[in-house]
Amino acid sequence: MGMSQEDLQNLRISYKLGELRRSDTAPRPIEQFDVWFHEAVKAECDEPNAFVLSTSLGDEISSRVVLFKGIQEEGLIFYSNYDSPKAKQMQSSAKVAANFLWLPLQRQVRIQGIIEKASAQLSDEYFKSRPRGSQIGAIASPQGSVVKNREELEEKFKSCELKYQGLEIPRPSNWGGFIIKPTLWEFWQGRENRMHDRICYRKVGSDWIKERLAP
Ligand SMILES: Cc1cc2nc3c(=O)[nH]c(=O)nc-3n(C[C@H](O)[C@H](O)[C@H](O)COP(=O)(O)O)c2cc1C
Repeated sequence: MGMSQEDLQNLRISYKLGELRRSDTAPRPIEQFDVWFHEAVKAECDEPNAFVLSTSLGDEISSRVVLFKGIQEEGLIFYSNYDSPKAKQMQSSAKVAANFLWLPLQRQVRIQGIIEKASAQLSDEYFKSRPRGSQIGAIASPQGSVVKNREELEEKFKSCELKYQGLEIPRPSNWGGFIIKPTLWEFWQGRENRMHDRICYRKVGSDWIKERLAP
């Protein structure tokens, strides 16, 4: 390793950029998320809509990054392959966790929630708006399957391109949206001396209870 353990242990910065008071947070977490998300965009965080999604199947848990693409009924929308490992996990357990990390703002948002499949209409509309290359990629790639080599994939891409030359590309039935319906949110703002601010929203009925957590 190019870095000593000591160097690694000394790798830390002090978080001084902001603070989060319970009284300054919105009554509903989706509104607070909207405020922070727009601040992350304005601060030019790289891929501000990228988040880590965790899913499980039995005692097997896995995480990967996906892209947040919209809000519907206070839920967060993302798109993926319905036959992928993550989709199979979400079919087995609808409980998921999500994590947005906006380091330039020293912020993270943690979410726990229940997954729902988006309507075909929503998925169709979004699929239509995607660049043609991404549309073809969605058809050509059996996400999560073993492929022999890169060439096999490229061939599939090319043959899809040919098949749909001059035609509108229909959304494949195994590709579309998911909606995370949050039941728990945490807004984390880094502070000095590891005395971070953590404001948590818990869903009780249709209301949200807001609490501060110890860092
Ligand atoms: C920045 C970034 C954005 C990504 N966005 C998506 C996405 O929106 N949807 C998706 O299915 N995969 C996305 N991926 C790929 C996933 O991380 C993952 O490799 C893929 O979905 C397969 O996951 P699975 O095998 O757990 O199903 C993204 C990866 C990165 C690094």
